[in-house]
Amino acid sequence: MCGIVGYIGQNMDTDHFLLSGLEKLEYRGYDSAGIALLNDEGIHVFKEKGRISDLRKTVHTSIPATQGIGQTRWATHGAPNRVNAHPHQSQSGRFTLVHNGVIENYESLYENYLKDIPLTSDTDTEIIVQLVDLFVHEGLEVSAALLKVLNLLKGSYAIAMIDKQDADKIYICKNKSPLLVGLGDGTFNVFGSDALPMIHVTKTFVQLLDEEMVIVERKQVTIKNLKGETVLRDSFQMDLDLDDIQKGTYAHYMLKEIDEQPFIVRKIIQEYQNTGSGFEVQSDIVEAVSTCDRIYIIACGTSYHAGLIGKQYLENWAQVPVEVHIASEFSYNTPLLARKSLFIFISQSGETADSRAVLKKVKQLGYPALTITNVVGSTLSREADYSLFLHAGPEIAVASTKAYTAQITVLAILAAVTADHKSIPLSFDLLHELGVVANAMELICDRKPEMQQLAREYLHDYRNAFFIGRHIDYYVVLEGALKLKEISYIQAEGFAGGELKHGTIALIETDTPVIALTTQSNTNLGIRSNMKEVAARGAKVCTIAMEGLDKPDDQLIIPSVHEHLTPLLAVIPLQIISYYAALEKGCDIDKPRNLAKSVTVE
Ligand code: F6R
Repeated sequence: MCGIVGYIGQNMDTDHFLLSGLEKLEYRGYDSAGIALLNDEGIHVFKEKGRISDLRKTVHTSIPATQGIGQTRWATHGAPNRVNAHPHQSQSGRFTLVHNGVIENYESLYENYLKDIPLTSDTDTEIIVQLVDLFVHEGLEVSAALLKVLNLLKGSYAIAMIDKQDADKIYICKNKSPLLVGLGDGTFNVFGSDALPMIHVTKTFVQLLDEEMVIVERKQVTIKNLKGETVLRDSFQMDLDLDDIQKGTYAHYMLKEIDEQPFIVRKIIQEYQNTGSGFEVQSDIVEAVSTCDRIYIIACGTSYHAGLIGKQYLENWAQVPVEVHIASEFSYNTPLLARKSLFIFISQSGETADSRAVLKKVKQLGYPALTITNVVGSTLSREADYSLFLHAGPEIAVASTKAYTAQITVLAILAAVTADHKSIPLSFDLLHELGVVANAMELICDRKPEMQQLAREYLHDYRNAFFIGRHIDYYVVLEGALKLKEISYIQAEGFAGGELKHGTIALIETDTPVIALTTQSNTNLGIRSNMKEVAARGAKVCTIAMEGLDKPDDQLIIPSVHEHLTPLLAVIPLQIISYYAALEKGCDIDKPRNLAKSVTVE
């Protein structure tokens, strides 16, 4: 959600760095974009509604400059148009600023300080740059003015600001919204909302914490807290491969990421395998999971769906009671907590504001927390007591695919290791069975034409679709329905097969598409009755069945894997069918409308 990138150094092609950096941040979701460049002639601001390709047209000719800032904006305050796009400038024109996040008290700040200054946009952001200008005008030195403003702000921010009168510095600040500094070779420094726009120029980064300001110069970076005191922080290395963030021959990141899933399951096996034939997880994490009375899994969207599967493993294998909660609801609807509660936060990005709000509350209550995330160094991983990583590589498509299967795989390993620690025998060899799953995933990924055909036959031209399953398949169809709706805009809902007749079956009419999933021997008969019920009312049923449970008329038969692990495999045809349904409709698959990859506002 919104992305920032910036450069200060000796190269003159800052505009190129910023525009290509913004392209690498596109996946986060945005609806307008802009850059500001500072050179001897002054400040040059370009902004545009729409895509970076539209902004590129506006910039049209190269502007040599050795410092600049850029931003992709996902509108919160003010419509997504050129006026509200960032950067914003102060009234005097001296300061130019981009901002991610939400300033909650912007109206009172305006009333208290800026009433005489006409604003040019509808954004909360403009208040920040006007306040800096005001305090500098009143006599404060720039960094003191910015610190004074930061101390007044309530809400979240990642900020980058240029002072037209000082070409040697860029000021950046962070609270709750992510921001990372990339250290150059002594001739430049860079920064961004994440590492992706910077990894082609550096692998050395400095993480910022909340309520910090950094003065970024060519040769050094100086971190200060909100009292103005200098903070010392070690840098760290991030080993990201450039290929991970390129589409290669794929038309969309989503398809590439779907295809990466077998490889990622094998990678996770490797990362967590011990020297014998089992798995290993950090001993303090295993101890925390083994000794708690109850686990609360907190997550949103796809990660929440992975949590529902994780609950099955932790309860059935490790015999720990688990509740799974949607992060945005947990604060209002906090259950009676067990005395020895353990919280597990599942988040691909590690930055989701709803989950973070719960983590903050949990820490205040004094409960331990474990984050399972894909992003090393992300806020949720830093703020929790323990972290486990997905090792799935950057997920660029907004619709999450490989993170979901990676989350389930890591949760399975955690549950199995905990069971072992508690001397509860597992009736199967997880390491072997995960290997079988990875091979089966590959087979499914190679059968895309079949799924493309199903998408054409069952979803093309339809405005709504239902997904049904029972038991663990029910959780998988929730994810299938989410995938379909978010990228194809077809209204899709997942239901427990037995629940349809309690209301929803009223919506079934001639040709309503119903995708039914059956991978469990104990629910096969039940879900097949539900298929008959909807077919009798005119539904067009597309059955996805696991080998061994299949019937001659089923539309797609997936290879047989251990029945606890079927979600890892069964979700893939649902992802692929959704992909092709969206492709047929000509949707912007990697960047669906209104969505952001990293949801950093509550
Ligand atoms: C759906 C999707 C979202 C995310 C959700 C949580 O495809 O990607 O539902 O799963 O926004 O994001 P993370 O996992 O980053 O906390």
